[in-house]
Amino acid sequence: MSSKTAPKNEALLTGLATDLTEATAQANDRTDVTNDVDASPKDHADARDNATDNASDKATDKATDKVKNEATATADVAHPRNINTFMRRRTHVSKHAEIALNDSSFRKYIINTANERNEGIIEHITNLRALFADTAQTPNGKDAPLTLEIGFGMGSSLIEMAAADPTRNFVGIEVHEPGIGKCAYMAAEQGLTNIKLINGDAILLMKQLPNNHIDRVQLYFPDPWQKRRHYKRRFVNPERMQLVTDCLKPQGWFHTATDWEHYAFCMLEVLDNVVGLTNQAGRGHFAARPDFRPMTKFENRGLDRGHGVWDLIYIKESS
Ligand SMILES: C[S@@+](CC[C@H](N)C(=O)[O-])C[C@H]1O[C@@H](n2cnc3c(N)ncnc32)[C@H](O)[C@@H]1O
Repeated sequence: MSSKTAPKNEALLTGLATDLTEATAQANDRTDVTNDVDASPKDHADARDNATDNASDKATDKATDKVKNEATATADVAHPRNINTFMRRRTHVSKHAEIALNDSSFRKYIINTANERNEGIIEHITNLRALFADTAQTPNGKDAPLTLEIGFGMGSSLIEMAAADPTRNFVGIEVHEPGIGKCAYMAAEQGLTNIKLINGDAILLMKQLPNNHIDRVQLYFPDPWQKRRHYKRRFVNPERMQLVTDCLKPQGWFHTATDWEHYAFCMLEVLDNVVGLTNQAGRGHFAARPDFRPMTKFENRGLDRGHGVWDLIYIKESS
């Protein structure tokens, strides 16, 4: 059964709920830099921190439970528990990113800008193919194979893929504005005509999209949320993967990769049990790294720390 219901009203309610839930999360996560795209390796929590975290979690959880319960109880009234998979962060906006975010000539890449609270307004985006309807600007047109990349970070791997496959259309969605600006700048530098960027939460977007809409969804090195109390924020969970499955066309692909071993095995467990998806490598197995996936910034960071890399590729069954 489809997981989409009354998307437009839901998006508005979700906005309210998000505000409340985010306030709660910030109370919990004030010192958490582990998921910051631009955090230094020193800042970025590693396995050693995790051991300490798990011990201190109990005390912290107790202290924050009260405020958390109050805020989430209110949020639950507006919307059944909405938990973000990202942390908004204020980081340096490079000169190139700033140009792209402010110069109207980049609007051919950036579909929506952020409002004063640094949130993309995506309620009106209900069809990704329509973004490519103007063939004077995007010659592939709306019926070309379509890839959606969730959480492209600073965007260099997305740009590399779009440049390498000019007959395919690419849509990237991010909440991190400096990354959106940087990616748009690189797209313009290369004169790409097959890429569009959306500012906002991929979960909200997918709830608004038609079923059987996208050929490939890719999610590379999603925030690992390695503390136990944050596992609920991980992008790969049964509900979110049902949304991805609904959006995919039959025979469409979902491709993800991570450098966190624990998350990799959780992903395998979740995805092997999504009805309608088939593990390309066989149940219980990771995929070989495909040639078309470029090295990403976070992959590099993980490799520098001696992490492994696990790819997972699933195909939507024809109904
Ligand atoms: C760990 S970074 C990885 C970036 C990039 N894919 C890479 O491999 O270098 C994860 C990114 O996903 C983004 N993200 C997380 N949840 C998201 C969501 N629901 N919608 C859009 N972007 C999201 C974060 O803002 C962050 O930039």
